[in-house]
Amino acid sequence: MKHLIDIRDLTQAEILELLDLADAIVADPAAYREVCRYKKLATLFFEPSTRTRLSFEAAMYELGGQVLGFSEAASSSAAKGESVADTIRVVSCYADIIAMRHPKEGAPLVGAMHAGVPIINAGDGGHNHPTQTLTDLMTIRREKGRLSDFTIGFCGDLKFGRTVHSLIAALSRCAGVRFVLVSPEELKLPSYIKKDILLEQGLPYEQTTDLHAVMPELDVLYMTRVQRERFFNEEDYLRLKDSYILTPEKLENAKAALSILHPLPRVNEIDAAIDDDPRACYFRQARNGKFVRMALILKLLELA
Ligand code: NCD
Repeated sequence: MKHLIDIRDLTQAEILELLDLADAIVADPAAYREVCRYKKLATLFFEPSTRTRLSFEAAMYELGGQVLGFSEAASSSAAKGESVADTIRVVSCYADIIAMRHPKEGAPLVGAMHAGVPIINAGDGGHNHPTQTLTDLMTIRREKGRLSDFTIGFCGDLKFGRTVHSLIAALSRCAGVRFVLVSPEELKLPSYIKKDILLEQGLPYEQTTDLHAVMPELDVLYMTRVQRERFFNEEDYLRLKDSYILTPEKLENAKAALSILHPLPRVNEIDAAIDDDPRACYFRQARNGKFVRMALILKLLELA
């Protein structure tokens, strides 16, 4: 049985197949309306979510399937002390596939070890978020027409931002990608990712605190929210939260063909005045998330 815990659980060929399928669904959604009839997706969200959970649920409904689950740990038996292993064993009896988000790094992996059905990691703590990465890859490919030969800037909380970690892992397998890492000193990319991916594979990268200086080089700018819920104290969060706020003025030296992505939710790191700029891709990105999750459900259920 196949699970998706880490984006590297998929080969590059499998990722491209998923993106192709997602594009095919966008082009003809009616053709997929009954494919998951009588199938059930469980969404087990031990941590807050809007896009990830709702796009998973919309995806399953659009495939003709049904959805069950919970959106906060407090309303599940986790509040009574049930282990992830037990919850997953039980939910495997009720659902055909499970999407799970958890504040503890590694919890979906533990779930997969006890699951009778495919498990999808919908975000584990400050670690990984592979389905956001599929969304990001689909968006980059649709916006740029390719998944190679570009410079991508990651800006904001690169330490706790799980979407950044998974996307770097995925892009490390694409040819000609250059990485520009923009963050305050305290929120730099974890050294294990730098060492195991960027250095290990000899990939071109640059680390800086100065977004303005590197802006003209970027083809893609991946903005992120400072992850308040992962901080040990509020003071540090307050000091760092506004390190980067993208405004129209800050785009003055950017490329005309820049693509601005953000996994959302944003707090104030992107000024709303940018939303109407054709370079702002983040709402199209959120829309893509539903289609790529439809593709993923179909593949994991072996229906496509
Ligand atoms: C991200 C997440 O949950 O990691 N959101 C999402 O899934 N679209 C990013 C974030 O919360 O900042």
